[in-house]
Formats: sequence, structure tokens, C-alpha cells
Amino acid sequence: MKAGNATLSGYGTTIFEAMSALAREHTAVNLGQGFPDDRGPLAVRRAAADYVVDGHNQYPPMMGMPGLRQAVAAHDRRFYGLEVDWQTEVLITSGATEALIDCFLGLLEVGDEVVMFEPAYDTYAPVIRRLGAIPRSVRLAPPAWSLPREELAAAFSPRTKLVLLNSPMNPAGKVFRRDELELLARLIEQHDAIAVCDEVYEHLVFGDAQHVPLMTLPGMRDRALRIGSAGKTFALTGWKVGYITAPAALLRPVTKAHQFVTFTTPPNLQHAVALGLGFDDAYFHGLGAPLARSRDRLAAGLTALDLPVLPGEATYFLVIDVERWLRPGEDDIAFCRRLVVDAGVVLIPMSAFYEASPPGHLVRACFCKEDSTIDAALLRLQTWVSRSR
Ligand SMILES: Cc1ncc(COP(=O)(O)O)c(C=O)c1O
Repeated sequence: MKAGNATLSGYGTTIFEAMSALAREHTAVNLGQGFPDDRGPLAVRRAAADYVVDGHNQYPPMMGMPGLRQAVAAHDRRFYGLEVDWQTEVLITSGATEALIDCFLGLLEVGDEVVMFEPAYDTYAPVIRRLGAIPRSVRLAPPAWSLPREELAAAFSPRTKLVLLNSPMNPAGKVFRRDELELLARLIEQHDAIAVCDEVYEHLVFGDAQHVPLMTLPGMRDRALRIGSAGKTFALTGWKVGYITAPAALLRPVTKAHQFVTFTTPPNLQHAVALGLGFDDAYFHGLGAPLARSRDRLAAGLTALDLPVLPGEATYFLVIDVERWLRPGEDDIAFCRRLVVDAGVVLIPMSAFYEASPPGHLVRACFCKEDSTIDAALLRLQTWVSRSR
């Protein structure tokens, strides 16, 4: 039998799936995969259910249902002052994941380079490589995850086609500051590049941190594609409804990819997400505070157990430094596997977010959970810590 594609065969099953399977096997508390305990707004779930019974369950328009495209354009105007033509500048996809892959398929040629940042969401590099393009990763250094300006400039070349920016950033919880975005925008213009902006955590930002879409910076409106996800904004990660806002000229080739990949997204979910995007400002502005509280609860408990936490100001995730708990020669992957068995708690090794030479002493925890889930994890870790000392 001939082998499958060599590039993709080289990657194992995603660590999230592997760790969730381990969690089930060991009935562990799962702080691995990023899904909330919160069930999402009832009105949105009800609208999806009602539409299945009463609505039109056939192929919706390829670009997305007009009501949702209008809602995305109105959302972008309301929160970011962007004037968006919903007919030519909005595309609905089956999750941000499809949106990202459509962008890569629609924009990249073999040999093109993509400037991106590590640690990085694990979908990016394998798909870019599968298309024969080349990731040029710039590493953000813990604990502050600040931007190495000279390295960033050096990562650009005449072959740079795309810049892939994930802000607010999974797994680091970093929100790129305006001065960092300005530098990026300058480099993008200088190199005549295009920005793919993964902004799925746009509303999950804490304290004083403010999410600024790169698209709103001078010169970027015509060069950026902005990706959002109903999964994150409405705590409905299983729904996989994503949306892209982009200038028509860039969206056109991306739409070609969408047309051949999924063609459409379930109409009941589109209908319900349109309703959600119309919620008043209080809904969106209220998303950060309960998450920040959960973050603080988990961070305080971990710190008290001598598991120090890195600063973070957004998303569902925080990063823990487990250096002092590693056995000689043990890396973060082996540590996480041992922790599931010995403590009954699932965390994700940060090496999942690097292509090579990961830090090795950092792990990611998901805090978008009920207090009882966080407390159960902390109790198990406390027992494990007292046994391990
Ligand atoms: C940075 C980032 N981008 C994209 C996605 C995928 O979003 P969706 O579930 O809408 O496909 C995730 C999900 O975890 C993510 O963390």
C-alpha cells in the first residue's frame, strides 16, 4: 500500500486529543483542552434548536447567510469602527480553523514564506508546510512574551507573503500592544505582505489590556484578514462557526478555498450566531471578568503549591513553570503524562506549540471552568505535591 502524505504523516495525533483520551482513561480533571464548562447563552442555543425544527435546513448561501454576514459587519463597526461591506467583505466558515485553512489555501503558493510567532496554535505550521510554504517563526520569550524587534525584522524576506498574527494569543495569554502592532504594520507594508489575523479571543481580554485588531492600524485595512469565532465569543466551541472580515480583493481567493472545502456552514448555527452578535455591549464587555476571576482562582492555588504562573491577560489559558518538579531528563510531555497518572490532572505541554526546541519546562492550563472543576484540580495537585516532596 502506498503511504499517506509524508508531511502530515510526520505529525502525531494532536496532543489535545491524546491528553483528553488519557484524561478519560484515568478519570482525571481535564484542564487540557480549551472548552468552557459554561453552556453558552440560552437564547443562542434556543435559536439554533428552533431553527432546526422550523427553519430551512438546506444549503445556505456559500458566503454565509445574509443575516450573519450583516451581523459580523455590524459587530466590526460597533467594536472597532470598521466600515465593512457585508456582501463582499465577510465570509462565514465552519470554525476559525476552516477560516485559517481557507486563507492559507487561497493565498499561499509553494515557496512563499509566512512570518509567525511561537508559541503558536498547533494548526498553523503543519498546514502551511503541507502547502509547500515555509513558516518563519519568531519566538516570543517567556515570561513576558515580548516581541524581539530585530528578530522580527530579520524574519521578513522578499519571499514573505503572509504574516500570521494571533492576538489575543493562545497559549501565552498575550495581547499585542499598539506599539508592537505598529512595528508589524510597518514591516508588512515595507514587504508588501498580507496579514492573517487570528482574533478568536477578541472579547476574552482582562483588566486594562485592550485588543486592537491589526486591521484598524493605518495602511492595514487593505492588507489584513480578520478571523473571529462564535465558539469563543459564545462559549460554544463545538459549533465551529467562524467569520472572516477582509477587503474584497483578498477575500475572493479565500472564498474559492471555502467553496471547495466545506462550501457552507449549518444554517441553524449561522442563524443563532447572528442573534448572538446582536447582543448589547454589556454581553461582550462582560465576557472578560468571570474568566479573569477563574484565572486568578487557579493562579492563586497553583502559586500556593509552588507551581508558579506566568503573567497573562487574555484567552482561556495560563502557563505554568514546572521546572522544579521535573525529574532529571524529563521534558514537559513526560511530565504531563506522569501528572495524569499520578495526580489525575490533565495539562498540556507547551512543546505542542513549538516546531522545534521547545522550552521544556512550561505547561498550559485551561481555566474557563466552574470553580468546582478548578478546586477539584487544585485539591488533586495538593495531594500530589505533598506526596512528591
Ligand atoms: C488561536 C486559535 N485559533 C483558532 C481556533 C479554532 O477556532 P474554531 O473552534 O472556531 O475552529 C482556536 C481554538 O482553540 C484557537 O485557540
